[in-house]
Amino acid sequence: MSRKALIAANWKMYKTPAEAKAFVDAFLPLVAGHDRDDIALFPSVTSLATVVEAVKGSKVAAGLQNMHFAEEGAYTGETSAVMLKAVGATHTLIGHSERRQYFNETDEVVNKKLHTALKHGIVPVVCIGELLHDREAGLTADVLVRQLKGALAGVTAEAAHSLVIAYEPCWAIGTGKTATPKMAVEAHAIVRAELANLLGAEVAKATRILYGGSVKPENAKDLCCEEEIDGALVGGASLKPDSFAAIVKY
Ligand code: PGA
Repeated sequence: MSRKALIAANWKMYKTPAEAKAFVDAFLPLVAGHDRDDIALFPSVTSLATVVEAVKGSKVAAGLQNMHFAEEGAYTGETSAVMLKAVGATHTLIGHSERRQYFNETDEVVNKKLHTALKHGIVPVVCIGELLHDREAGLTADVLVRQLKGALAGVTAEAAHSLVIAYEPCWAIGTGKTATPKMAVEAHAIVRAELANLLGAEVAKATRILYGGSVKPENAKDLCCEEEIDGALVGGASLKPDSFAAIVKY
């Protein structure tokens, strides 16, 4: 079964609505007619509606970088699944390593968010990845399996059909240090084997596993050409239309 790759831009805490609109206006002509991959933009919450509006009529999707697990409630500063959908967004990142590191997001929280996203028909991009000291201690597989087990607790194969996993080794995020294609392929194979264990072989085969961590125009092709790598989650190099378009069209 062939998986259509997804190339996704994680803009983190960058871009005002006006800057987001200028990006989309410049970016869409650069990827017009590009059908090989799915493309998604993850702006900040204040730019989401602007981006949804600006990508209308194109094949580019828009999503949030984070979403709360509750339907609604007294959660100051948070955004719900219903709010995300009400502005016309379709995707959300869940459990990005910066959420885990700076906002105490645990595997349990990631799990709750995943259940909520799936319930609301939102495409979840669940981020996992080891710290440098995990890798140096030979614990990469243990960490990935633990994070996957935690994220997917109680998720059925039927519910998981839209699931996307992003493997992002923490030591490669924003550091300029990219995992080699060999390292990424090894990690993706671990992830796919655990997906088979948790959700069955069919879902594991169909699930897209993206690589993230210092992806740029110069290394996108080497990474994305690997059969095990089904696209990329791009931070820094997704902030400029020409740079992100070059990654999409590697
Ligand atoms: P980076 O970020 O491409 O800047 O390393 C990737 C990410 O955090 O998703």
